[in-house]
Amino acid sequence: MAPKHLLIREQLLAEISTMCTDDALPQERDLAERFNVSRTTVRQALRSLADDGLIYSIRGMGTFVSGGRISKGLKLTSFSEDMRGRNMEPSSRVLSATERIASDEVALNLELAPGSSIFEIERLRLADGVPMCLETIYLPAHIFPHLLNFDLGGSIYGLMAEQFRVRVETATQRVSSQLASGIDADLLGVPRQAPTLVVSRQGVDGKGRLVEYAVSVYRGDRYDFSFAVQR
Ligand code: GLP
Repeated sequence: MAPKHLLIREQLLAEISTMCTDDALPQERDLAERFNVSRTTVRQALRSLADDGLIYSIRGMGTFVSGGRISKGLKLTSFSEDMRGRNMEPSSRVLSATERIASDEVALNLELAPGSSIFEIERLRLADGVPMCLETIYLPAHIFPHLLNFDLGGSIYGLMAEQFRVRVETATQRVSSQLASGIDADLLGVPRQAPTLVVSRQGVDGKGRLVEYAVSVYRGDRYDFSFAVQR
């Protein structure tokens, strides 16, 4: 059987999906009583929902439902994991998939020698059929041989793990803003010049190899970034 805190997380997730932004969740001790578990277990479930950006806490006030945005934290996750964690079904439209010689920018970001071959895959990522982000990923061809023969419509991280035994373990990310160009806006279903968040990721596997360079253009109205900072 799944650990108790995961079962409680599932039940709370179902409840949250029927609640409105900023609605308060019941108090920790009431949840503990209702589910007949310790407060530590309830806290664990709440922490996992907070890590996924689904709820937020205000000290001394309680826990509340986050807004309709996908709040990204410091956890390294895939698009599919992000959506499934929020009870949404991920899907992709593959816009292009090619093998080519890496441009200078891509070679630099993957630390490849000039002239190296890479796969470039451009996809529109959707959640429950709604466009969320436009993603272009660049993968070194020597690490993922014959990649284009596989189905690229599902999770790329899943494919990497299952077919190539490669897992992105750590990444360096950079977030910047950009106004949506005409083509991007049409694909994302937002007005032209709408704000977007551009996240570039250099993904490193367990052997310390740079295995992915990705540029994701997220809808500014659906995403934000939230993480704890320390003095
Ligand atoms: C996120 C990251 C990308 C990564 C993708 C994998 O969107 N920003 O760098 O390629 O997840 O997601 P999936 O495994 O669902 O294809």
